[in-house]
Amino acid sequence: MNTISQIPVIAIDGPSASGKGTVAQLVAQKLGFHYLDSGALYRLVALKSMHSRIDIDDTAALTDIARNLNVTFDHDEISLDDSIVTNDIRTEKCGILASQLAAYPQIRAALTDRQRKFCQPPGLVTDGRDMGSVIFPDAILKIFLTASAEIRAQRRYKQLMEKGMDANICDLLEDIQKRDERDRNRSTAPLMQGTDARLLDTTSLTIAQAQEKVLCWYNEVRAKSTFEPIH
Ligand code: DC
Repeated sequence: MNTISQIPVIAIDGPSASGKGTVAQLVAQKLGFHYLDSGALYRLVALKSMHSRIDIDDTAALTDIARNLNVTFDHDEISLDDSIVTNDIRTEKCGILASQLAAYPQIRAALTDRQRKFCQPPGLVTDGRDMGSVIFPDAILKIFLTASAEIRAQRRYKQLMEKGMDANICDLLEDIQKRDERDRNRSTAPLMQGTDARLLDTTSLTIAQAQEKVLCWYNEVRAKSTFEPIH
């Protein structure tokens, strides 16, 4: 067993606005683990490409951005080239562009090592689309967290309103459905529930209930596992 596989990883994958980020962050806090929001990396590439006016077809320039992202994660704050971009990357425009450029295998490959470096003792909770399938295939617990598209649109709407951002619920639902389709149908690392991932449908669950379920599953798999975590 290599060092990485000794560090417990909880991989939570799922569609846009399913609440996986909120749940993952809460579980990480509860366990005192590190947290990686892998979608933020794709959104950062999208934001930088917008700032640099790079065309979506210019894969070489986009890959270059992905490889050389100058980003800092400091608790809830994300900085890109020394500017705080925590809210800038959350716009629908940035999410749609992130989903488009995430279909390029070169860009995904350029972000792989950066994501794996987050796997540090005492453990990692991460969320995205391919955390369990590609980035952390040895994760001790893999979860596919989802909810109906309508509920996700409502949640995203509430989130944007709370941040003081403008939004229309019908447009959000349409964007979510389009993004699901693109994320599911791309040839590299498509969004799907792996055969080794547990399904967590949060359509009628509160955040606290979803968090509780993940912690309960984690305790269950930890009790069965033989490895000694590194502290
Ligand atoms: O989770 P999110 O909405 O912040 O992600 C934005 C986009 O980034 C998403 O539509 C697809 C892409 N993404 C990906 O392809 N793989 C990941 N592990 C995370 C996000």
